[in-house]
Amino acid sequence: MSTMPTYPAPLPKIGVAAADAYLASGYDSVVGMSSKFAAAVCGRLMRLQTAMGISGPIAEIGTFEGRFFIALGHALEPGEVAVGIDLFDWPNPQVLDRFEANCTRHGLPTERRVTWKTDSRSMRPEDLLARAGGKKLRFFHIDGEHTRDALTRDLERAAAVMAPEGLIVLDDMLHPGYPTLMVALHLWLEKNPEWCPLAVLDRETIVAAPKFVLCRRDWFKRYEEPMLDIFKANIWPLGADFEPHWCLVLGLDTRLAAIE
Ligand SMILES: C[S@@+](CC[C@H](N)C(=O)[O-])C[C@H]1O[C@@H](n2cnc3c(N)ncnc32)[C@H](O)[C@@H]1O
Repeated sequence: MSTMPTYPAPLPKIGVAAADAYLASGYDSVVGMSSKFAAAVCGRLMRLQTAMGISGPIAEIGTFEGRFFIALGHALEPGEVAVGIDLFDWPNPQVLDRFEANCTRHGLPTERRVTWKTDSRSMRPEDLLARAGGKKLRFFHIDGEHTRDALTRDLERAAAVMAPEGLIVLDDMLHPGYPTLMVALHLWLEKNPEWCPLAVLDRETIVAAPKFVLCRRDWFKRYEEPMLDIFKANIWPLGADFEPHWCLVLGLDTRLAAIE
């Protein structure tokens, strides 16, 4: 007997007990903006990388109080680190203490994380690599300043430190408050054709807006194939048309309009 899908679809499981427990009972208590759905998908993607034999450090620009960062940190393998980059001055300098306290409270030990208080505008790739233990990165979440120039610059910095199989995740790509981020992304993709969108992660609310996942073009199929199975309950069937490239769209409510 076939069962009808239910909506909203279930949140994907990351597959690490501490990570899923954090999503279930810690995530909402950490002040932040990223959606829980995106955190679950990104944590699960990190586990997919591990299953594919991909290892290495990860980083986030715009760590704020650690909401998304902690979820990613729980998906690391032993010996891997997450580098958290932020100005840590907004809305006040105590945000750094709150970040450290949140990581500790939610079980992300100091040996798994590197806190870097810096301006991504002046961040040098070699300094980031040094903080990441000298290894190229497998995963990078960009959630810093939401302007066209800043996104272009952060993308350039991230791409310079990524392993060939690395994934770059961009925050707030279809946020109504930041329409120029899409312009920056399209121009950057034109100049960097070895990169392409792998998936669009749907919004939860107007502030927990969509994220885009990018990968190198020669890794697209290798990620897409297992993702079609892993995220089958969350795939919006029509996909995203980046003319001519198509990528996955993942969401919690993937129903199509009932057209007669
Ligand atoms: C929207 S918040 C990030 C939310 C967080 N990732 C979450 O999911 O809860 C944006 C963060 O980017 C940081 N930021 C803005 N411009 C930056 C820059 N030039 N360098 C580093 N961090 C920056 C801000 O300090 C702020 O904490």
